[in-house]
Amino acid sequence: MAESAPVITLDGPGGAGKGTLALALAQRLGWQVLDSGALYRAMGLIGARAGWSPDVAADRTAAADAAAQLAVSFEITPDGIRVSREGEDITETIRSSEVADQASQWAAVPAVRDALLARQRAFAQPPGLIGDGRDMGTVIFPDAACKFYITASAEQRARRRLAQLSMPKTTDKIGKLYNEIETRDARDREREASPLKPAADAVVIDTSDDDPSSSLERLLAEVSRQGIA
Ligand code: DC
Repeated sequence: MAESAPVITLDGPGGAGKGTLALALAQRLGWQVLDSGALYRAMGLIGARAGWSPDVAADRTAAADAAAQLAVSFEITPDGIRVSREGEDITETIRSSEVADQASQWAAVPAVRDALLARQRAFAQPPGLIGDGRDMGTVIFPDAACKFYITASAEQRARRRLAQLSMPKTTDKIGKLYNEIETRDARDREREASPLKPAADAVVIDTSDDDPSSSLERLLAEVSRQGIA
């Protein structure tokens, strides 16, 4: 199955720097971006508002129906990627820890993942797409032109998430975030439906000791080495 436009995939655990890198790559190449985590977060928000539980069969069916109709769009702005759903700007709402936890639970429901498959593939439009997620290179875009697996130590990822949440950086909060991140990562890695893992043909980039600009240069060097853009 060939994509209708070139795709570069960035998979990896939360807080490894994928979002920042996906945006920077998209800006540098003039391509579109798919923040697939935002789709699962939107599902977390919809489920919470509707009072659905991933443990209830009828709620899973309702969530899969909602996922099949999910209309989320991304806009690249000077301040980052804005996420909208049916006219509502949900950029900030979907960043909360509660929504993240809900998202990770819905992301383990196969019917929800199946319902989002075609919607995600439809984002591959000329001139090209940067796909950011957990299964971009393994399941959604297996024929992507270039695949990366972006990782970093759990402690670094907790620090970056804390910086994003702009809270005081106490040891207490870092510890709490570290535990939350580990719990979500374990769920993402251990689930049966499209678990988080590097594609066999992915280039692994560890960003633990990098600042964003040096990680970006490493990605761009690989993209140009592969003759993609
Ligand atoms: O990248 P993120 O933190 O916004 O992702 C939110 C949740 O969705 C996280 O638990 C992983 C899950 N997810 C997924 O299962 N598949 C994707 N392609 C993207 C995210």
